[in-house]
Amino acid sequence: MTKSEAKIRIEKLKTEIDFHRYNYHVLDRETISEAALDSLKNELFLLENDYPDLITADSPTQRVAGEPLEKFKKVAHSQPMISLFDAFSEADMRAWEERNENFLGRPLKQEYYGELKLDGLAINLRYEKTLLVSGATRGDGKIGEEVTNNIRTINSIPLKLKIPAEKDLEALGFTEQAITEILRLIKEGVIEIRGEAIMNKKVLAELNKKYVQEGRPELANTRNGVAGSIRQLDPRITAERKLDFYAYDVLLREESGQILERGEIITRRDQADQLAGLLGLKILKQNKLCRDLNEVFSFYTAVEKKRETLPFEIDGTVIKINDLKMWNVLGIVGKAPRYMMAYKFSAEQATTKVKEIIWQVGRTGALTPTAVLESVKVGGAIISRSTLHNFDEIKRLDLRLGDTVIIERSGDVIPKVVTVLKNLRTGQEKKVFPPKKCPMCEGAVEKVGEEVAYRCLNKKCYAINLRQITHFASKGAANLEGLGPKLIEQFLTEGIIKDAADLYSIEKSELLSLERFAEKKADNVVTMMAARKVLELDQFIYGLGIRHVGEETAQLLAKIVAAKKAKKTTNMAIDELITIFSSFDLAELESLEDIGPIVSASIYDFWRNEHNLKLLRKFEKNGVSLSLQKVNNLSGASGQEMKLANKSFVLTGTLASLTRGEAKDKIKALGGKVKENVSADTDYLVLGAEPGSKYEKAKKLGLKILTEKEFLEIIK
Ligand code: IVH
Repeated sequence: MTKSEAKIRIEKLKTEIDFHRYNYHVLDRETISEAALDSLKNELFLLENDYPDLITADSPTQRVAGEPLEKFKKVAHSQPMISLFDAFSEADMRAWEERNENFLGRPLKQEYYGELKLDGLAINLRYEKTLLVSGATRGDGKIGEEVTNNIRTINSIPLKLKIPAEKDLEALGFTEQAITEILRLIKEGVIEIRGEAIMNKKVLAELNKKYVQEGRPELANTRNGVAGSIRQLDPRITAERKLDFYAYDVLLREESGQILERGEIITRRDQADQLAGLLGLKILKQNKLCRDLNEVFSFYTAVEKKRETLPFEIDGTVIKINDLKMWNVLGIVGKAPRYMMAYKFSAEQATTKVKEIIWQVGRTGALTPTAVLESVKVGGAIISRSTLHNFDEIKRLDLRLGDTVIIERSGDVIPKVVTVLKNLRTGQEKKVFPPKKCPMCEGAVEKVGEEVAYRCLNKKCYAINLRQITHFASKGAANLEGLGPKLIEQFLTEGIIKDAADLYSIEKSELLSLERFAEKKADNVVTMMAARKVLELDQFIYGLGIRHVGEETAQLLAKIVAAKKAKKTTNMAIDELITIFSSFDLAELESLEDIGPIVSASIYDFWRNEHNLKLLRKFEKNGVSLSLQKVNNLSGASGQEMKLANKSFVLTGTLASLTRGEAKDKIKALGGKVKENVSADTDYLVLGAEPGSKYEKAKKLGLKILTEKEFLEIIK
């Protein structure tokens, strides 16, 4: 993105974010999910990081959300209530530590304090000489709303602080001098407690049950429940809502209001947490001291596991540098401190851009559109595709190419486009039209009557394609282990592939966009494909599904191609294969032993069909190359070994001691030929268990029939 493009994008993002922010924080109206809004903010933050001179004072990255409502008395915070930077991965967290190290110019050997990130409403409590005198919301960070009467109804908030016993303070590691100071400030000075007012999940469920009975609208979630309870003027309503409160910060002040430096008296965050407990506040027993980032990661994982069983909603963890003196050294940058980080759970919604719309043909010929997206992390997985169902859905969303969209993914359900953020359009977006021809067979397309779907009129289109790809993946061809018809069908119908060559460009993020595709399964497919990019020449030719070209003919062709190869190396590019095949003329093909006019015509046509050549070039582009090792072995048998020279064999039934492929290879290695069907020219029929009709025919023709034992003797 150029700077001038970035500038336009930044302006649009700011306006969009501000619109939703105002609705959400001022009017208590949710016009976008928090996760999607975070996603937009994150994009803005990254752009501003790239172009710091485009940061303006009114950027959402420079302020804290929310403005006081007119109806509440406003209170200025003695120290601003700031916001937090977000991290979503271990990499984000490592980058954070690295930024801090760069800022300090030295390695940061630090303990961290891991806390739960409660999803409620931030409240600042002010205690003067042990008594609760005011409670305020964050507001815009500098000025909040005074909600003292409401928060007084929260039972877990003490109206009078407890005075800790000296021995308890001692046990927290406070020095004698610190203990004297703390006790003096509790009794004579000002203690500010910051924390989160929350609503327990059970309370929400009970309230909603009641509201439904009374015909009142339900509360959307616990966070809305808390905000709605506190930011309204009737304390009786707050009381009814049975809110709870957990402390996450303690500030000590002189009576005069003078702010005491952090780290002077209370030196560690874990100490401050315990102190809040001694003062009579509720603290989170799950919070944990972590010696380094690795311990932070274990803490995060453990919390994520416990998430469902907790009585309240959390949206991640908050990781804080434990040494409070460092807080002063690191300070604040923009809207948030350097010394702590919201290490959040992955959002279930995110914003991204639509790069392309592709159409795939379903079983019934119905054409389904899929949006190809700029990769984005949603609900813990990187996603690059999203289904659009049908053309009506595109019309309903008014989706255009290049649009910024909100996508949603819950559990392992296929991600979907929820909304188009039309305000972010530049005018360069392109309208989407229904397909004019089938993307698979290039045949005619029609929309029938009232049906929503467009269909490919070629009834066999899907089936043929599915069969071809399955054939390519099969054991005798590309041998793509685990890629059976079911999986290939899923890839086809969900638009991951259009042809066999596409199998080699499948990315993990695409697989994670599919239903029932867990991380492990996706990894297996991607690893297997990466390991199968070099194919044996004969198997590749066979896999192409050229009409009338079975394994035998493919091997024959491979030998001839190998003989024509300019350099005698054991590998070959597909490009060279195309060159060699297009150099054959019909007569040359027909002159080959065992290849009649019908087969040669089919081969000849295949290599001159533009559709096929396109497919071949795609294989090449996707990194497929060929090996001549097997072909060389097949034709490399030397004179003395050629004891079956000019003998032709037909196999029928199942052999007990070797597979059909092994038997064929053995015959060929000894100079013999293997044919599919018996004829008067056949020298031997090898008889396995449960033979087919070939056996009857061979008997009729009076051919030499070999039992497995006899056959093994011959090839010994
Ligand atoms: S520390 C700098 N600790 O998260 C302000 N905040 O996204 C952060 N929150 O407004 C204070 N749990 O309301 C802190 N353990 C915790 C928290 C926590 C929830 C909220 C807080 C803040 C918001 C920032």
